[in-house]
Formats: sequence, C-alpha cells, structure tokens
Amino acid sequence: MKLIFATNNQHKIDEIRSVLGKKIEIITLKEAGINIDIPEPYKTLEENASGKSKTIFDITATNCFSEDTGLEVNELNGEPGVKSARYAGEGRSFDANIEKLLSNLSGKSDRTARFRTVISLLIDGTETLFEGICEGRIIEKKRGLQGFGYDPVFIPTGSDKTFAEMDIVEKNRFSHRKKATEKLVAFLNTI
Ligand code: IMP
Repeated sequence: MKLIFATNNQHKIDEIRSVLGKKIEIITLKEAGINIDIPEPYKTLEENASGKSKTIFDITATNCFSEDTGLEVNELNGEPGVKSARYAGEGRSFDANIEKLLSNLSGKSDRTARFRTVISLLIDGTETLFEGICEGRIIEKKRGLQGFGYDPVFIPTGSDKTFAEMDIVEKNRFSHRKKATEKLVAFLNTI
C-alpha cells in the first residue's frame, strides 16, 4: 500500500518510516511534487491533523495521512500544546521555543509533561484518527544533539536520558509518534 505522508519534516518522516513495515510505503510531499507549507490554523491537534490530510487529499485524490504533535505541560495548563511549533513566534525556532518553555517553567516544581500525537488517515476520503501519548518531564537545561524540537529538554518516564540523547531506535521505545503509528499500521492491516 502507498500513502502520501503530509509533512515536510524530515525527522517525522525518518521516525515514521522506521516503524512502518515493508507493506506500507510512504511518499513524502517532496516526492509527490507538492511544494506547500500546509497551514495549521486550528485550536486542537485533531483539527490541525484533519486539516492537513484533507488539504493533501483535495490536491492529490490519493490516500494519505498527516500528523500533528504537541508538548502539553501540566504547570502551563497544557501549553505549548497546539502552539508547540510557533511557541516563541512565527520563526518556528526550536531554540527560541525551548528558551521560552524553560523561562515559563522557571521556579515551578511540577515539570511533568507529555507529548501527544494525533494522526489523521484518509482512505478513499474516509477519515480515521489515531492518538499516541508519551509521559515525561522537562529538565532545566538542554542535553543531547539528536532528534528535533523539544527533544533536548524532554525525558520520557522510564528513562534518565532526554530524547535528544537517544537514537531513533531508543526514542521509539517511548515515543508518542511510534505509539500512534503502530495504531495506524494495525488499522491498515485490517483493511
Ligand atoms: P507539528 O506537529 O509539526 O505542528 O509539531 C509541533 C512542534 O512540536 C514541532 O515544531 C516541534 O517543536 C515539536 N515536536 C513535535 N514532535 C516532537 C518530538 O517528537 N520531539 C520533540 N519535539 C517535537
């Protein structure tokens, strides 16, 4: 089965390809010749994921999926959440986003957080949603060079390493995206 994955984020493509078996081939937007930055204007991860997959289905009429992920910090009432990519502004800088997060958490004792991924799959125009959650905590200083986004300051429950100190195989032992992708694969294997 071939599916377009509606993202331009190479990290997400690598992580999801590492979970999908050989039966499911994903085509990136670049490989499909689509050069657009899909907007994420909504207030929930679910609406953004749906919006992205519908945009690509409308353009290509090809089965596809998209995902939207947010970091939800308890002490910040679930922020940055759906605003994770643009937390510190439209520049979408990973470093500026982390700086703002650490500054907003400064002096707070509860540093628990979770990554939540929502995948929207469109098969023949019918949508199914899948969710994956990884619980953890935010540390005070960045550690590690791998991964992307908030990985250098997030330690998943059950580890003492940040995601940025793990390779993809190790991150996948905990990852929100891996959990959502496994549900996607299980569903695809039933149709
Ligand atoms: P989006 O799903 O592309 O809107 O991602 C939102 C933002 O969340 C990204 O720009 C990253 O900063 C962050 N993010 C998403 N997934 C991860 C992850 O697996 N690790 C760390 N940060 C992530």
